[in-house]
Amino acid sequence: MSKNMILVLDFGGSQSQPIARKVRKENVYCEILPYDTPIKEIEARSPRGVIMVGSAKEVNAETKGGSAKDVCSLGVPVLALGCPAMIVARDMGAVIQETVIEKRTAQVCFGASPLFAGLSSVERYFERADALDLPENLECIAASEVPAAFADERLRFYGLQFFPENNDPEGFAILHNFLLDICGCTPDWSMEAFVEREIARIRGVVGEGRALMAISGGIDSSVCAALMHRAIGRQLVCLHVDNGLMRKGETALVEKMFREQMGINLICVDAGERFLARLSGVTDPEEKRRIVGEEFIRVFEEEALKLGQIDFLVQGTIYSDVIESYGVDNAPVKTQNNVGNLPEKIGFKSIIEPVRELFKDEVRSVGQVLGLPAELINRQPFPGPGLAVRTLGEVTPEKLTILREADAIFRDEIVAAGLDKRIWQYFVVMTDCFSGGVKDGRRSYEYAIALRAVNSVDAMNATVYRLPYDLLERVVARITSEVPGVNRVVYDITPKPPATLEWE
Ligand code: XMP
Repeated sequence: MSKNMILVLDFGGSQSQPIARKVRKENVYCEILPYDTPIKEIEARSPRGVIMVGSAKEVNAETKGGSAKDVCSLGVPVLALGCPAMIVARDMGAVIQETVIEKRTAQVCFGASPLFAGLSSVERYFERADALDLPENLECIAASEVPAAFADERLRFYGLQFFPENNDPEGFAILHNFLLDICGCTPDWSMEAFVEREIARIRGVVGEGRALMAISGGIDSSVCAALMHRAIGRQLVCLHVDNGLMRKGETALVEKMFREQMGINLICVDAGERFLARLSGVTDPEEKRRIVGEEFIRVFEEEALKLGQIDFLVQGTIYSDVIESYGVDNAPVKTQNNVGNLPEKIGFKSIIEPVRELFKDEVRSVGQVLGLPAELINRQPFPGPGLAVRTLGEVTPEKLTILREADAIFRDEIVAAGLDKRIWQYFVVMTDCFSGGVKDGRRSYEYAIALRAVNSVDAMNATVYRLPYDLLERVVARITSEVPGVNRVVYDITPKPPATLEWE
């Protein structure tokens, strides 16, 4: 029996996550797997349909096909986009010729396929489209200067040389037709349904046991804690480690929201001194990151052991962490961070990851369903190693105090200007640079600090947010008069790439 689930097979490139998000926006649940997942494993998941998606790269005789061909014999509909479409065509006997369309729009006439029901012929953007001679079983269902789409309607296989999600709004109609009409999916994936189901699942797993989770105050761990709390109440213990590298007022905010407003069983550990002691004399950014991560695990272990029997460790892993840690062709984008080494020492029965299936925007929606304050749901990203990577050179209490105060003023002014929801990330960087100045008629030689404000979707690329000049002038005036030790403020207007968002 097929589940009400779509499997997205990832053939590399960066399209699989955007496609998966669009599928979920149609209220259909989907999962992503690498293109070479063994066919038995794919079959075992009983998907109602498969979307194979790759980049627009050249497909030739050597291009590896993974499970592409076998998927077409599973008996469920298959939509192939970009290179997997050409791989299947090749394996079915098509002859691929030269590239005719590259990075431009071209007119497309849709045929009578159910995939294009309700669509009119339009211009469509192509990354790449190759001329090809189709074998007998593959019929051209969308004609352009080349076959833009082809199908074996008997097998319910559809191959497209364009990416529907890049072609609004009709691209969405193609996905909609595939999911609902061709695969017969029921659009029942919603965050309300997820919360209800997940609460029941967590209760079943935890039973009478106790669970422990670390919360930073970031969106993922906060939503995760709220969900766990809704499911098991006081059987959940949350631990917030103040590592002395938080922004101004951060720990107080965590206490207010989690303990006072949500009634969560929260332990706050003031461990600032030990983190700073270990960071003393360290200037290398990677070394700082390592030390902060390692010290966190030590504090966590010590506190967990004090709590007596704890059965489950809760982690705020989200779906992009899961996908990024498998990678394509065994090249993971990153390994999962979090507190992965803990269970062995403490003897947890198992790990619970309640939001593991969710994309970031879905995590936010769950936060809304659970009634979390907007202040928390809309928080900007903050790096795990905190202000340690925003303090260039050695991290000292003096530099941290200056950074915290300056950052608080910057944030204050951005909120006052009503820009906090428009800017993806904004913060102050404490440079290790002194410069000359004049304060109260006397020469000064003090720190320069830098302001950064950027817009991004996924932190991989970012553009500089153009802050209004009057706002910048207010921030400069306030920081240089209210924060002792700063006589110069610079504004970083470098996009990413070439610069990263953080300076370290
Ligand atoms: P970069 O500086 O790499 O930052 O352009 C991209 C995003 O990642 C955040 N960032 C980190 N987050 N641990 C984290 O949890 C880190 O070590 C770290 N370094 C950077 C950064 O704030 C931005 O949102």
